[in-house]
Amino acid sequence: MIHATSLLLRAATRREFLLRHSSGLVCAAALLVGGCGGGGGEGLIKVGEFASLTGKESAFGESSHNGTVLAVDELNTAGGVLGKKFKLLTEDTQSKAGESQTVVNKLVSRDGVVAVLGEVASGRSLEAAPVCQGAGVPMISPSSTNPDVTKTGDYIFRVCFIDPFQGTVMANFATKTLKARRVALFTDAKSDYSKGLAKYFKQQYLKNGGEIVVELDFNGGDADFKAQLTTIKGATPDAVFVPGYYTDVALICIQARQLGLPVPFFGGDGWESDKLIELGKEAVEGHYFSTHYHPDVASAKSKAFVAAYKARYGAAPDAMAALGYDSMMVLADGIRRAGSTEGSKLKTALAATKGFDGVTGATTIDAERNASKAAVILQVEKGKFRYLETINP
Ligand code: PHE
Repeated sequence: MIHATSLLLRAATRREFLLRHSSGLVCAAALLVGGCGGGGGEGLIKVGEFASLTGKESAFGESSHNGTVLAVDELNTAGGVLGKKFKLLTEDTQSKAGESQTVVNKLVSRDGVVAVLGEVASGRSLEAAPVCQGAGVPMISPSSTNPDVTKTGDYIFRVCFIDPFQGTVMANFATKTLKARRVALFTDAKSDYSKGLAKYFKQQYLKNGGEIVVELDFNGGDADFKAQLTTIKGATPDAVFVPGYYTDVALICIQARQLGLPVPFFGGDGWESDKLIELGKEAVEGHYFSTHYHPDVASAKSKAFVAAYKARYGAAPDAMAALGYDSMMVLADGIRRAGSTEGSKLKTALAATKGFDGVTGATTIDAERNASKAAVILQVEKGKFRYLETINP
């Protein structure tokens, strides 16, 4: 209770708290006498979302948010669940380390949400997961792939594959498709996602008999990668694996071209954003990455989703949009089966999710609260992401 009180006092000092949530003080008082929670006030089911709506990875947050909003609207149009409609409360993490705990604390303690959706980036999901676990509020990450996210505890779920799988997929791709015998690794030392994916890639690539000729780091947000790229060039790799996020990857590819490093670059889902092409232009042409979804891979669910998404947002959805949508649908299905929004009942229902038919395929939550799903490999071609192949788990 001391904990909850101090959180609320901290929240209460924030200007936007008073501006946007004048009823929050009532909730604060209720919490002091035993909790306002439930999230079902005003006949609505409150769902929290935290996403990078601004900052370096804003394209991730925007896509994921768009997909989530589409799902909420479709669910509400169909009458909601348990006779109640959903209300989505969204907080911006600004793509920054250190924000996620604060905003998820707000959602959980002040707003009394029944569940939390987010984040895209693994590092930010790792920050927030202990808050949800501690509060007994289920959290579903749409697209964080680092295995440690769900290891936080039994309230933490995801609806996507994890990086031991993604790393293996890309190592096999390097060996079999690129026929690369010598690979350079270039990792974002500031990103849990990047470090994990590099590790799992390396494990499988060495098993395949490949050689890692050089391993170097960068810091996400850096502007100049030329020193490391010069060393990489000197090591004469057949290909360069960069498990980074699109903003850094685009710059790295541009500077690699400037230095005359004409080998394929490849990476994971963090590459996926139209911004990669907007920023990287011809420097990203021909390069490859793995991700969760491509709109050309047509299931009935996916076709309907693509049409609705295009109609609403005027653009085709990417993996984050599809996973954001699926995370909300899986949550609604869990609430329906639980017959309740109470945290412990909801987490038990979510853990029992089996073959839920979504846009990104069937979601079955395993014993580690992860979803095992296929990966797709895409190539940048003429300013578009071309679908190459699907790799099943
Ligand atoms: N998987 C990435 C992470 O865990 C985030 C991401 C998901 C990026 C989907 C792009 C597409 O950090």
